[in-house]
Amino acid sequence: MKNLKKQGMPHKSTVFDCSIIHFPKIHNRAGNLTPIQNNIEVPFDVRRVYYLYDIPGGESRGAHAHRKLQQVIIAASGSFDVTLDDGRNKKTVQLNRPYFGLHVFPGLWRDISNFSSGAVCLVLASEFYYAEDYIRDYNDFITFKAVK
Ligand code: TYD
Repeated sequence: MKNLKKQGMPHKSTVFDCSIIHFPKIHNRAGNLTPIQNNIEVPFDVRRVYYLYDIPGGESRGAHAHRKLQQVIIAASGSFDVTLDDGRNKKTVQLNRPYFGLHVFPGLWRDISNFSSGAVCLVLASEFYYAEDYIRDYNDFITFKAVK
């Protein structure tokens, strides 16, 4: 994993620190299986798993950044777009396979949109749920990143 040091510097993280992780795909004629292990397939200890589902057409999610938390976002079913923003650069990644995960560094604004019908957005997070870890105001985010 590149740029490990930057995970402790959320003010400095950029969209270019984020990468797609290719998980193993164990093929079987009766169906496929993808295993994910702490610090092996994902570069942190997973403390929380949550998933978004039953997303109405045209809705978007996210619109926040995290101060400390890092995460891996997976399209467990269907597809959607994740737009990352570091205050200077934006990058949009389409996720559409359950064996790809987008590793999102701390300190990045994210919007998730264009959910396909029946999409399931699975998130592996490095922290328990702490409301204080969220930055939900974009201007606060820009101040946090010290970019003007
Ligand atoms: P929110 O983070 O706003 O969802 P998203 O960014 O995906 O659009 O969370 C929606 C609500 O769910 C909010 O009231 C907080 C709550 N929530 C929890 O209680 N625990 C969790 O682990 C998460 C992710 C959210």
